Amino acid sequence: MQHTYAKRVTHMENSAIRELLKLAEQPHIISFAGGLPAPELFPLSEIRESYAQVLGAGDPSVLQYGTTEGYLPLREEISDQMRSKGIPSEADNIFLTNGSQQGLDLIAKLFLDPGDVVLLQNPSYLGAIQTFRSYQANFATIPTNAAGIDDIALEVSIKLNRPKLIYLAPTYQNPTGTTLTIEERKAVLRVASKYGVPIIEDDPYGELRYEGSALPAIRSFSTEDEVIYLGTFSKTLAPGLRLGWIVAGKSLIAKLVVAKQGTDLHTSTLLQRATHYYLNHFDANQHIETIRQAYKVRRDLMLSELQENFSNQAIWTKPTGGMFIWLTLPEKYDTVNLLPSVLTGNVAYVPGAHFFTDEGSCSSMRLNFSNPTPLQIQQGIKLLATILTL
Ligand SMILES: Cc1ncc(COP(=O)(O)O)c(C=O)c1O
Repeated sequence: MQHTYAKRVTHMENSAIRELLKLAEQPHIISFAGGLPAPELFPLSEIRESYAQVLGAGDPSVLQYGTTEGYLPLREEISDQMRSKGIPSEADNIFLTNGSQQGLDLIAKLFLDPGDVVLLQNPSYLGAIQTFRSYQANFATIPTNAAGIDDIALEVSIKLNRPKLIYLAPTYQNPTGTTLTIEERKAVLRVASKYGVPIIEDDPYGELRYEGSALPAIRSFSTEDEVIYLGTFSKTLAPGLRLGWIVAGKSLIAKLVVAKQGTDLHTSTLLQRATHYYLNHFDANQHIETIRQAYKVRRDLMLSELQENFSNQAIWTKPTGGMFIWLTLPEKYDTVNLLPSVLTGNVAYVPGAHFFTDEGSCSSMRLNFSNPTPLQIQQGIKLLATILTL
């Protein structure tokens, strides 16, 4: 049957590159393309034990419907964690989601009418761009200059574009790995507050810090609930759990409840109970420290391999945390056109164009260092340089 879809479906096209990148999942390919954590570091036995304990206690409510906001003891636990990071919050400010991706979708559902503008970093996280696009948003770029975010140009852009939302991943951003300074965080908040534009602060990578001290979240400076903070267990525990949270003002939480009810009623009760058990019976901080140490080794290795193999021809970011390095080749290279031959040579990256709202030609690529093993990083970067004949 030929379906007649809603108009917004024309904004949800499958890209050819995404199809091509499915090839990167084959085992003989060294893939720097995914955004996946290292599976060998998942706390498998602890999560198995948590599920066994909550199911074994004989309490049938672990399989019952739950409230849309989420399991109260888990929301209390998360609000404690948020406060310890300087983000004021009570359990009533916490709303549980199926990963932060659902948080993005619910917020977009609540705020965006077709044609509304989202102001974002360009490049930005592809999943956020896709979500905003599916609500038929238009985009404008947060202006930057040599010193970072240009607050004067930002104010001009807000006056001109009248954005409905600002979307930012201020810490170890996907795809570039870069981090906003405290001054930039405060500047965006000051300008956004002046014009009443809510900021979505997407923070999946903040815990993956390999050097320096933690920077305060933008929400920690916010006094009027202007900042909607998104957190997730995807990078610290496991993404397959699908558990994230939103920190927001109570009136927005009430709207989120209605939005989520129409989507999936609530996040899995069993998942929430098992995660609560895990957080109370195992050392999550120690686990995060283990991940940090392993990823730091991989980041250092990728940086030194890049230095050895790409130093004459390319520039790249030096992230102090997160999972990605953003590599830029000389302008004559187009990383979309190069991908098929790179895949034939058994290596994969994501072309940079993918992360821009206009998807124009681009000589950058995103390289992931958390999922490949150290040996794969060594072999893969050398291979990449050879294929690109640098
Ligand atoms: C910046 C950013 N936001 C949100 C997400 C989605 O994360 P989750 O697994 O919590 O839905 C990702 C996943 O890679 C991401 O990089």
